[in-house]
Amino acid sequence: MSKILIVYYSRKGENYWNGSIKSITKGNTERVAEFIQKAVGGDLFEVETVRSYSESYMTCIDEAKQELREKARPEIKAYPDNFEEYDTIFVGYPNWWGTMPMCMFTLLENYDFAGKTIIPFCTNEGSGMGGSERDLKKLCKGANVKPGLSIHGAESEQSESKAAAWAKKSL
Ligand SMILES: Cc1cc2nc3c(=O)[nH]c(=O)nc-3n(C[C@H](O)[C@H](O)[C@H](O)COP(=O)(O)O)c2cc1C
Repeated sequence: MSKILIVYYSRKGENYWNGSIKSITKGNTERVAEFIQKAVGGDLFEVETVRSYSESYMTCIDEAKQELREKARPEIKAYPDNFEEYDTIFVGYPNWWGTMPMCMFTLLENYDFAGKTIIPFCTNEGSGMGGSERDLKKLCKGANVKPGLSIHGAESEQSESKAAAWAKKSL
């Protein structure tokens, strides 16, 4: 049986929400990650950066833009244990400036993906998956990157049935 890992980054604090700024205590991507785990099982792993981003949405936007420009690889607190044992990896993230937050690049660059299946999911405020699937294919050489799921961040709380059906179908 295939062993499943659900790895995600999600930021709490102020976020852009249907045209205004709102503070959230649980990240949108985290909610979707939990729905996926409930539907298909597997181990859940949250990526956390050593230096946290600003609570302020506007400051965080600038920090993220700078990291993207510099192709930064922000340090992360921990890596999943026994990564090589997983053959199916759901990879979740918010869309930041059209792709994944750079800490996901830090994580993914670390592994050999030959023979593994990646199933991406992304929450966003309208840009969908952006270029993230293309970036995943570049980064995770040898992986079979399946079509991703885009969820409107503000509707993540109501996305359980959509996420569950997609996750089951993707396996
Ligand atoms: C730094 C930053 C950059 C963002 N860039 C985009 C973007 O380019 N396109 C988009 O649709 N949403 C963008 N958003 C909105 C987030 O993708 C969206 O709110 C997402 O659901 C946040 O997920 P999280 O709560 O799991 O972090 C951005 C948010 C932040 C904080």
